Amino acid sequence: MEHSQTHSSQILFRFFLFLWWITCLQSATLSTSGNESDRLALLDFKKRITQDPLHIMSSWNDSIDLCSWVGVTCNPATKRVMVLNLEAQKLVGSLSPSLGNLTYLTGINLINNSFHGEIPQEIGRLLSLQHLSLSLNSFGGKIPSNISHCMQLSVLGLSYNKLFGSIPNQLNSLLNLVSLGLGNNNLTGTIPRWIGNFSSLEILCLLSTIFKEAYPMNLGV
Ligand SMILES: *[C@@H]1O[C@H](CO)[C@@H](O)[C@H](O)[C@H]1NC(C)=O
Ligand SMILES: *[C@@H]1O[C@H](CO)[C@@H](O)[C@H](O)[C@H]1NC(C)=O
Ligand SMILES: *[C@@H]1O[C@H](CO)[C@@H](O)[C@H](O)[C@H]1NC(C)=O
Ligand SMILES: *[C@@H]1O[C@H](CO)[C@@H](O)[C@H](O)[C@H]1NC(C)=O
Ligand SMILES: *[C@@H]1O[C@H](CO)[C@@H](O)[C@H](O)[C@H]1NC(C)=O
Ligand SMILES: *[C@@H]1O[C@H](CO)[C@@H](O)[C@H](O)[C@H]1NC(C)=O
Repeated sequence: MEHSQTHSSQILFRFFLFLWWITCLQSATLSTSGNESDRLALLDFKKRITQDPLHIMSSWNDSIDLCSWVGVTCNPATKRVMVLNLEAQKLVGSLSPSLGNLTYLTGINLINNSFHGEIPQEIGRLLSLQHLSLSLNSFGGKIPSNISHCMQLSVLGLSYNKLFGSIPNQLNSLLNLVSLGLGNNNLTGTIPRWIGNFSSLEILCLLSTIFKEAYPMNLGV
């Protein structure tokens, strides 16, 4: 009797050990594949850098972990890319749409480089993004309306670029915006009335933006 109880508890123990092992295996596989998709996205970003006089991108190689690549910060627990900060690194190139695959990004800072081309709509897939700073570059085209999906966005800096067109109305969904910089572009149209509805907006830099017609603004602070 006593013997069979010991036996069944042993079986139970082994069963739980097995479950625990399966769970570990699964989470290891998951975090590896997530990290792998971050790696592919960053390598695609690198591929579109055409000039890199400071050799920043040479650290982006497979002999070191991507969390140690210059400008890349990972979440220490999940090892997923959290921040991309390459401010003033003299980089020339265009912005890869694969940036939208870096699902856990909370910040992008590319201030003061020479990025050109359009800001990809895929930025709108970054639902955790809080800071998007692209000022002092040569970005052209229109402000991508899909930025409006980044509901966590608190800083949106696009000043000193070559953006044209109007401010997309969809941006009125960015209710957490604290700082909005659009100055020194070639934007046309009107300053949308909804900008006055952002109760948290502290810095609004629209200076030198060409507006055909401007509404009086009520910042409502
Ligand atoms: C980014 O994600 C898209 C859609 O899932 C996929 O087609 C593309 O290959 C990915 N890009 C990279 C560089 O992994
Ligand atoms: C990879 O990056 C590291 C760190 O910058 C560097 O020391 C190493 O030489 C690089 N390896 C290659 C193959 O470029
Ligand atoms: C931009 O970066 C360069 C170095 O790459 C620096 O000399 C310059 O002062 C920076 N410009 C601004 C406006 O911060
Ligand atoms: C932009 O957002 C729309 C939904 O508003 C979506 O259907 C589309 O796929 C998005 N574009 C990209 C490139 O992510
Ligand atoms: C701004 O846009 C106008 C009208 O589209 C164009 O004539 C002008 O060259 C543009 N300026 C710059 C600096 O891109
Ligand atoms: C501003 O907010 C008020 C009250 O929430 C709303 O009635 C109005 O439609 C909003 N105006 C714009 C232009 O979004």
